[in-house]
Amino acid sequence: MLELVETTTRRGRVQVLNGCSLTVAKGEVVALLGPNGAGKSTLLGTVMGLYPSPTGQVIVQGQEITRVPTHRRIHYGLALVPERRQIFAHLTVEDNLQLGAFHRRRHGVGISRDVAEGMDLFPGLLKHRHRQAGWLSGGEQQMVAIGRALMARPEILLLDEPTLGLAPVIVKEVFEALARLKDSGLTILIVEQNVSQALALASRAYIMVHGQMVFKGSSAEAHHALAEGYLAMG
Ligand SMILES: Nc1ncnc2c1ncn2[C@@H]1O[C@H](COP(=O)(O)OP(=O)(O)OP(=O)(O)O)[C@@H](O)[C@H]1O
Ligand SMILES: [Mg+2]
Repeated sequence: MLELVETTTRRGRVQVLNGCSLTVAKGEVVALLGPNGAGKSTLLGTVMGLYPSPTGQVIVQGQEITRVPTHRRIHYGLALVPERRQIFAHLTVEDNLQLGAFHRRRHGVGISRDVAEGMDLFPGLLKHRHRQAGWLSGGEQQMVAIGRALMARPEILLLDEPTLGLAPVIVKEVFEALARLKDSGLTILIVEQNVSQALALASRAYIMVHGQMVFKGSSAEAHHALAEGYLAMG
């Protein structure tokens, strides 16, 4: 479904990814773990084409998209919920969701139904639908960010630390919503600091350190690897 083959990625003059390979099968949830600065966000950005990636390949649903510009990657079923949410604070919740369907506007069928579905996934959002998103709590803003990404009807959802800075009860709510998305068959690649919850959701995990993959295996094996101190290697 999604495959990175020996990808190298640069940010400015720095080569951040040094030959990273990763696969995510259809319907699978895979966790990408690693210490701060390891290159996790850069890897997700590489899938979306945000940074130059001179060697290696990005393959989605059997098609190589390494040189496809970012704005076209949405057509390959990819959607990213970026680090720190990046919602439009001055727009309403409903307008934020609708923007997620921007590329579908010419065949706008079902957009309002999908807005309603987004609200179903996070029932707490319904009462806020006409409020400016910037006024919501951090957890509610995260729900808007996930809802907005889903409006593109992606087949692969990339999540960059969706529970960063959220209270434990909200973290639980976000993970419950992600579990429902997993049950619906969505393919998910998730970067998370809440390691045990991420591994409970995922069936497999990768650990990266200093721009390289240092581990891949089942979630249970990842628990052991982490106990051996992989995350402390940053
Ligand atoms: N704009 C930039 N120019 C040059 N180097 C950058 C830039 N942004 C990030 N980097 C470097 O790229 C490396 C990887 O950053 P990245 O944000 O991908 O790490 P991360 O694993 O997501 O970390 P975190 O857990 O803190 O989010 C870091 O060493 C960082 O200093
Ligand atoms: Mg990051």
